[in-house]
Amino acid sequence: MDKKSRVYIAGHTGMVGSAIVRALKRQGYGNIITCTHKELDLRCQADVQRFFATERPEYVFAAAARVGGIKANSEAPADFFYDNMQIADNLIMEAHQYGVKKFLFLGSTCMYPRDCAQPMKEQALLTGLPEYTNEGYALAKACGSRLCAYIRRQYGDDFISSIPANAYGPGDSFDKEQAHVIPALIRRFHEAKVQGIPNVVCWGDGSPLREFLYVDDLADSCIYLMNHYSGEAPVNIGTGKEISIRDLTELTAKVIGYTGTISWDTTRPNGAPRRLLDISKTAALGWTYKTELEEGIRLTYEDFLHNPVRAER
Ligand SMILES: NC(=O)c1ccc[n+]([C@@H]2O[C@H](COP(=O)([O-])OP(=O)(O)OC[C@H]3O[C@@H](n4cnc5c(N)ncnc54)[C@H](OP(=O)(O)O)[C@@H]3O)[C@@H](O)[C@H]2O)c1
Repeated sequence: MDKKSRVYIAGHTGMVGSAIVRALKRQGYGNIITCTHKELDLRCQADVQRFFATERPEYVFAAAARVGGIKANSEAPADFFYDNMQIADNLIMEAHQYGVKKFLFLGSTCMYPRDCAQPMKEQALLTGLPEYTNEGYALAKACGSRLCAYIRRQYGDDFISSIPANAYGPGDSFDKEQAHVIPALIRRFHEAKVQGIPNVVCWGDGSPLREFLYVDDLADSCIYLMNHYSGEAPVNIGTGKEISIRDLTELTAKVIGYTGTISWDTTRPNGAPRRLLDISKTAALGWTYKTELEEGIRLTYEDFLHNPVRAER
């Protein structure tokens, strides 16, 4: 990409898409194309075709998706599968049709088999069924990633895909029902601190190990891959570091300044014991993350405090 290239970010109002827009602007890319969900429903092929015919993007970051928590995914697997298939198919095929120079499709770690060997290597993709609760979403994402590979194989277009670790940061959802683990902990400890609640109860025993990637680092990796990677296989993007949920909980309480106690409800499920990406491929490409977890949680908490509308939900 050069700084005048026409760059389209699909899903620019989302957490990841908005971080990509911020990163592109920071790096001096001045020709950014965006369009809201309301203006363009990416499930509609005819509308997507018209959009590409009019806007003629040269580079595309595909960060639009129907995204949801375990509850939403398990209640509506057909919707999560269909919407994400449509979004991926339309973006990828119209990008091919209109001669996009390079296309990056964002996948998800849930594409890996439910009982995948850890750390998860790119070669393990499609060697087993994903977690049952988000199977529809995961399979649609896997199909999008494969379609990029097939377009490259059949037509020689420079279409690539990546698999980022769990992201967190500004723009995250702090919704009581939907929030992922870090924003959920931030909200709970903030409310406990403000309301003087002496103890916070967390689910499970705190032993599962997880990996987290600050969203601005994820965005930085997207631009890096766009400029430095060409290949059929998707690329894992992570920190290569893991933390137990117990240590993450204590770290979040410390950042928020919550001084009460934390207890564990061991009658609640733990989830998978370990989910860590193998990042040797990204390391060989020369990319690494910048933001350590404590700093990232502090920045996410600032975002929570400065966005009362999101904090109220
Ligand atoms: N968050 C993570 O931890 C994470 C980790 C790895 C990979 N990713 C990948 O990053 C991508 C975005 O995730 P995110 O966390 O940024 O999700 P998000 O905050 O929910 O953003 C999704 C974006 O897609 C848009 N969108 C959804 N359906 C659409 C449709 N039919 N037509 C047009 N736009 C539509 C949304 O617009 P509206 O809000 O207006 O509907 C929003 O801008 C996903 O592909 C996901 O697989 C995310």
